Amino acid sequence: MNNFDYRNPTHIVFGKDRLGELDKLVPQDAKVMVLYGGGSVKRFGTLDKVLAGLGERQVVEFAGIEPNPQFDTLMKAIEIVRAEKVDFLLAVGGGSVMDGTKFVAAAANYDGDEADILKHGFAPPPIESALPLATVATLPATGSEMNMGAVVSYQGGKFPVMHPLLFPQFSVLDPSLTFSLPPVQVANGVVDAFVHTLEQYVTLPANGHIQDRTAEGILKTLIEIGPVTLANPEDYEARATLVWAATSALNGFIGAGVPQDWTTHMIGHELTALFGIDHGQSLAIIQPSVWKLRKQKKHAKLLQYAERVWDITEGDDDQRIDAAIAKTREFFESLGVKTRLSEYGVEKSQIDSIVQALEDHGMVALSETGDLDLSISRQIIEDAYA
Ligand code: NZQ
Ligand code: ZN
Repeated sequence: MNNFDYRNPTHIVFGKDRLGELDKLVPQDAKVMVLYGGGSVKRFGTLDKVLAGLGERQVVEFAGIEPNPQFDTLMKAIEIVRAEKVDFLLAVGGGSVMDGTKFVAAAANYDGDEADILKHGFAPPPIESALPLATVATLPATGSEMNMGAVVSYQGGKFPVMHPLLFPQFSVLDPSLTFSLPPVQVANGVVDAFVHTLEQYVTLPANGHIQDRTAEGILKTLIEIGPVTLANPEDYEARATLVWAATSALNGFIGAGVPQDWTTHMIGHELTALFGIDHGQSLAIIQPSVWKLRKQKKHAKLLQYAERVWDITEGDDDQRIDAAIAKTREFFESLGVKTRLSEYGVEKSQIDSIVQALEDHGMVALSETGDLDLSISRQIIEDAYA
């Protein structure tokens, strides 16, 4: 196992009817900005409950954070935060609203050009402080409710921002707030949580026994409850399990002390930025092809995945690995998520633009060891096409 530091300060407030507790969770004298998306939280009554929970505090609302939150939109929120002297941010929504709120928190006190914050990849940007933030999560998928990461869209690219100051102080996870999700978002969420787990697990062996067994537990659980929660959106126990699985997949625990490979996410981000393909869908397209091209490198962990997650014990190594890749694709398809790039209205001739975008964004040395160059990315994308 590699050396690691692990600290996760987010207080999770899990379960039914917890929004009334906002009054205890948010500082009494806070001036709060409540940030949300395109209106689902208004339509389904979550916003009213949040505002009631905040009681007599001064509240400023900021609506309109779009899926794949845009820098320009977030800058509008930042201007209001500065003008109104807001001192606490409460995100109410999915990953996009939570991530957008994290960027507002990071940039509000920043002196320089706010876009600089987006230029540090997985290394922390040079911020000295951030506004305190918290979330009410309405979509189980990204893990943003319990991690220090955000992804912001800027000038045609998607840029990660990671900083320990961006952990939410608390996150309210009430599974019943997610019952209103359309099936496509539930399916996207299952795929996103599944691939977060894979990108920290199907890498190189590192004797991370606790991390591996936990990852396998999350994967098996998603395979079990994904279809159940899709078919019965108001089955509380199934949805509660999905919510906790998605949070557990990306709160740092399974990735501590083991190699990580974010290739599928980095290529997927370009598909979203160029063609508007949903984040979860972009991962379902890319993941099987990453494995096909990287079978040698990931041999040991792919075999482990085949045996422990899919119970594949027949055939030689290659056959087992191929069967595990096929099972993964079938799982995504069974949730209604298409796994071929050609099925999303993209022309084969547009593959060049994806490779170009990877180059423009410096995504030229991906994988757990940084040896995945543009020529391999091109082969992955070509394989994912049809
Ligand atoms: O905008 P509203 O009207 O709220 O509608 C949203 C949006 O259209 C809707 N929705 C959310 N909760 C709902 C609901 N509709 C009905 N009922 C509810 N309870 O769902 C739509 C999609 O929302 P979005 O927040 O965009 O989805 P998701 O949670 O999948 O977030 C995706 C974003 O997260 C980033 C992605 O890149 C993408 O930008 N990621 C963030 C990560 C992180 N912070 O650690 C890691 C992930 O890998 C991911 O990259
Ligand atoms: Zn993701």
